[in-house]
Amino acid sequence: MRGPFAYREGRLSAGPVALAEIAAAVGTPVFVYSADGILARYRDIAGALARERLEATVCYAVKANPHLAIVSALAAAGAGADVVSAGELLRARRAGVPGGRIVFAGVGKTEAEMAAGLEAGILQFNVESEAELVILDRVARDKGLQAPVALRVNPDVDARTHAKITTGTSENKFGIDHAQAGRVARLAHELPGIDLQGLAVHIGSQLVDLAPYGLAFEKVAQLFAELRASGLPLRRLDLGGGIGISYRDERPPEVADYARLAARTVGHLGVPLIFEPGRWMVGDAGVLLTRVLFVKQGAAKRFLIVDAAMNDLIRPTLYDAWHDIVPLERPEPEAPGGPVDVVGPICESGDIFAADRALPPMAAGDLLAICSAGAYGATMSSTYNSRLPAPEVLVGGADWAVIKARPDHATLLAQEWVPRWATQAFRGEVEGEEPQASGSRAAS
Ligand code: LLP
Repeated sequence: MRGPFAYREGRLSAGPVALAEIAAAVGTPVFVYSADGILARYRDIAGALARERLEATVCYAVKANPHLAIVSALAAAGAGADVVSAGELLRARRAGVPGGRIVFAGVGKTEAEMAAGLEAGILQFNVESEAELVILDRVARDKGLQAPVALRVNPDVDARTHAKITTGTSENKFGIDHAQAGRVARLAHELPGIDLQGLAVHIGSQLVDLAPYGLAFEKVAQLFAELRASGLPLRRLDLGGGIGISYRDERPPEVADYARLAARTVGHLGVPLIFEPGRWMVGDAGVLLTRVLFVKQGAAKRFLIVDAAMNDLIRPTLYDAWHDIVPLERPEPEAPGGPVDVVGPICESGDIFAADRALPPMAAGDLLAICSAGAYGATMSSTYNSRLPAPEVLVGGADWAVIKARPDHATLLAQEWVPRWATQAFRGEVEGEEPQASGSRAAS
């Protein structure tokens, strides 16, 4: 089994807690996370970097799993945060991450987001374009402040990952072209509202090979050394995130090797480093529990129709991602496995978690865990087909708690308004009357 989950007395468990117990109490679908698993990852990476004698801050990429309980647990352990929106910034602050440990990344920050970052006294903005730099300068000067900035450089290195999560090639929208970085850095240094402090690089997500990291880190280290030699006061380097996990049979790098690579390629610069891991911290530490609704034998295929769907976990639909699927009750070793498609109830053929997957015989009512769902799971979910968001549960030691309840339909419907004219206009048309004038701000 993956991450912190294992069969215990035949039942899939997180430590002493059987996941079936949670499913019975909370219902399905439900995301379950292991706090112990997440904190172990934080200790692993912080320890590996310390052993290489690197002065490093691990800024957890909040986007991977932004739940307040998870960000809070990591903050309490000493992690910083990598945020990409005002909402993530607010979460990080609420979770107790000090402003001085927050990096604000993202290719399209609004002026309001820049202002929020300045007010929170964040460690740095990772700036991705000259246009952004000019606006940030003005926003900071308007406040009588200087914005701490790292320029994100695009090293034009192919991370050899899925096209939708590759970010470091010249074809991608991210970062400042390597060849333009010197000019933009000098501009940053001259702008009175900008305090140019460093460089940043991030080449993609779910990297299972160290080689592209090596290329990118070497390129950015060389640029860093050149710019510093030319008189720019660079004093910090952000190496981004992206360390992969094993969803199927990938062999991602050991974090000790990753730390060694960082030490070898950028250690000689002698500056504090920032790392922005997201998936690696939380991916393996989460599962999505789902119940089989029906078993359906089609003409060509056998389907397990489950109560989770693409709105809960969109990765298989969006990236053709493989997620292991295992029964909550350990199957007999010689149980005859047959190929099945594990599908959700949504009215799209793309609503599929696995095709032709070998699973032991399952019946309606049986429980399954969709593995490696701790990262980019709940956070990318939607209410498509008016399905309720799945609740979230955190297990820590022998305790577990619902950290996000399943809302009811009434709560979701209460967020929507029907302006009176919408129905009147329709009636008017039917009855041949003039539709009521629009533009009124009244909501009812
Ligand atoms: N730093 C930056 C600037 C990023 O853009 C990202 C992720 C990270 C750090 C964290 O990357 P990680 O360590 O989690 O790989 N939804 C996709 C992944 C999108 C990643 C976006 N950027 C998925 O489900 O695979």
